[in-house]
Amino acid sequence: MEKLEKLKKERNAIILAHNYQRPEIQDVADFVGDSLALAMKARETDADVIVFCGVDFMAESAKIINPDKVVLFPDETAKCPMAAMVDAESVIKLKEKYGYDVVSYINTSAAVKAVSDICCTSANAVKVVESMPDGVIFTPDENLGNYVKRFVKDKEMIIWPGFCPTHMGISLKDVLELKKKHPEAEILAHPECTSEIIDIADKVASTEGMVRYAMESKAKEFIVATEKELCYRMKKEMPDKEFYPVKNAVCPTMKKITLEKVIMSLEKMKPEIKLSEEIIERAREPLEKMLRIGRG
Ligand code: 13P
Ligand code: SF4
Repeated sequence: MEKLEKLKKERNAIILAHNYQRPEIQDVADFVGDSLALAMKARETDADVIVFCGVDFMAESAKIINPDKVVLFPDETAKCPMAAMVDAESVIKLKEKYGYDVVSYINTSAAVKAVSDICCTSANAVKVVESMPDGVIFTPDENLGNYVKRFVKDKEMIIWPGFCPTHMGISLKDVLELKKKHPEAEILAHPECTSEIIDIADKVASTEGMVRYAMESKAKEFIVATEKELCYRMKKEMPDKEFYPVKNAVCPTMKKITLEKVIMSLEKMKPEIKLSEEIIERAREPLEKMLRIGRG
């Protein structure tokens, strides 16, 4: 790791990693968090270079917030399938049809953000929708949209039918089997899960929200209904508690970033996130608006 530290110093670089990253990436990162915390961290850093270990929309968001910094993305093919489920043209058409503001989950392309009125993450989606003056068009995650609807009753929500294959793959049967094995465990679920999982969860939150909840809870065991690597961070920060991941809850895209690729990206200063000035200009306001709202 000496090589990595040396390169980081030479480049004045910071490594930001999402909670679903491989353990060895989490271990070398300067900061590990959920998409909201990572965007906030990207905004406040004075490093010249951000090495972003996560998926495409997260690295793009870091670039939109920091157009003057170099944002390295160690594997350009690490694209979130949910973010690819919605396109800017369709969003514009929906806006014309309904006349509502567009709330886009951060899991969208920069082009979609550029035609949105505000962004949100799983940590503040309810608060963001509550802040809107009228009905909203919500893209692209249907499960998150339906979760928000449970709290926001006074606004019409037109919800795009996107989904996360990893969270859709978390089955009620597997969660209930874990609960049978560990009856004392609390169930933590990400709002990208299906409504039947959300119905039985003790806590529904973003990945960071789950970490915070587990820290404050009196419970000693937790069933973690989200991508399995969050359990690595949780166990590291709460060694006296137990965390049970759900079968097959793996995001293959998140696993594309390896330590080797991180070192290589700093050596070669590529792949780098490049976005047009126009897209950055238009996508920044919806992201900044969301950051001003903060955590829900
Ligand atoms: P968080 O913002 O809760 O970390 O979620 C990001 C994500 O992609 C979930 O699948
Ligand atoms: Fe995208 Fe789902 Fe992976 Fe999150 S877990 S990055 S939403 S595919």
